[in-house]
Amino acid sequence: MVRVENLTKRYGSFLAVDNISFAVQRGGVLGFLGPNGAGKTTTIRILSCFHPASGGSATIGGYDVFRQSIDVRRRVGYLPESTPLYPEMRAREYLQFRGKLRGMSRDERTSGIRRVAERCWLGSFIDRPINQLSKGMKQRVGLADAMLHDPDLLILDEPTIGLDPTQIRETRNLIKDLGERHTVMLSSHILSEVEQICDQTIIIAAGKIVATGSPQDLRDRFSEQGRVVAEIKAEHKDIEEETRKITGIQQVTLADANGWVRTTVSAKAGCDVREDLFKLAKEKNWALRELRREGATLEDFFIKVTAEQQTVRAQ
Ligand SMILES: Nc1ncnc2c1ncn2[C@@H]1O[C@H](COP(=O)(O)OP(=O)(O)OP(=O)(O)O)[C@@H](O)[C@H]1O
Ligand SMILES: [Mg+2]
Repeated sequence: MVRVENLTKRYGSFLAVDNISFAVQRGGVLGFLGPNGAGKTTTIRILSCFHPASGGSATIGGYDVFRQSIDVRRRVGYLPESTPLYPEMRAREYLQFRGKLRGMSRDERTSGIRRVAERCWLGSFIDRPINQLSKGMKQRVGLADAMLHDPDLLILDEPTIGLDPTQIRETRNLIKDLGERHTVMLSSHILSEVEQICDQTIIIAAGKIVATGSPQDLRDRFSEQGRVVAEIKAEHKDIEEETRKITGIQQVTLADANGWVRTTVSAKAGCDVREDLFKLAKEKNWALRELRREGATLEDFFIKVTAEQQTVRAQ
């Protein structure tokens, strides 16, 4: 559905998107995840034909984003970061106006507005002036607009930002639902959102893709490098010295815990050091009251990979 190859965007000498490539299959919800300033909006604007790129190529449904922008726009619905609506228009008038701009006939507009009003729960506020609507309602009008021409691909830039918890939940359910019939690409920096609604994830940081996979894949990949926590009664320096001798240990952190020493060790991927720690405690005759593997979360993974990339860019 979407194919991006070596896409680059410079603002002056600043490289906002740095040679990224990815493909999105038809159907399902793809999460484009990254911290502030990662390049999410820039990439999305390029894909929705709002921005030219500085290099590379992108196609949507086989159409070239740069050379066949009319065909691309026909197939893409785009919800920008802040929805630009005309405040003096009523929501219905706005949707009529947008439908006309897209070349939809009167009948197509009428049936299209009925369909999106229902899907986005516009209810009676469809006949109210936009400047009287709350932020969440405006967001729904924006989403209704993006869906009006029944596009194959919906690109949503932070669709739940600024909404209240109920609306966030409803919007997430709606997006999940939309993923059954359309292809949805959404940007977010909210990990739990991506975990809940996305089938696939692309993590971008400082203009580069740092990881791709399903939320579960990413979590598994990170948990291979999980930490082990042990609570031991012994001298700090002895624990430090002896644990560092265990094969595969990368980092040891010690902290006092009511007369015990909470020892957190991280080991190389694939090394489970619990047994070695147990044997060590037994051999040294240290009391051991806890020994467990700390499960990694997607948040741990996100923080790790994005921090690494930001450090690379700063160098
Ligand atoms: N018009 C512009 N001129 C110059 N620099 C820009 C412009 N638009 C974006 N940038 C820079 O490009 C980088 C990427 O911005 P972008 O808006 O794509 O980030 P983002 O991932 O969408 O972040 P956020 O989560 O804050 O929305 C940022 O460093 C930003 O300052
Ligand atoms: Mg953005």
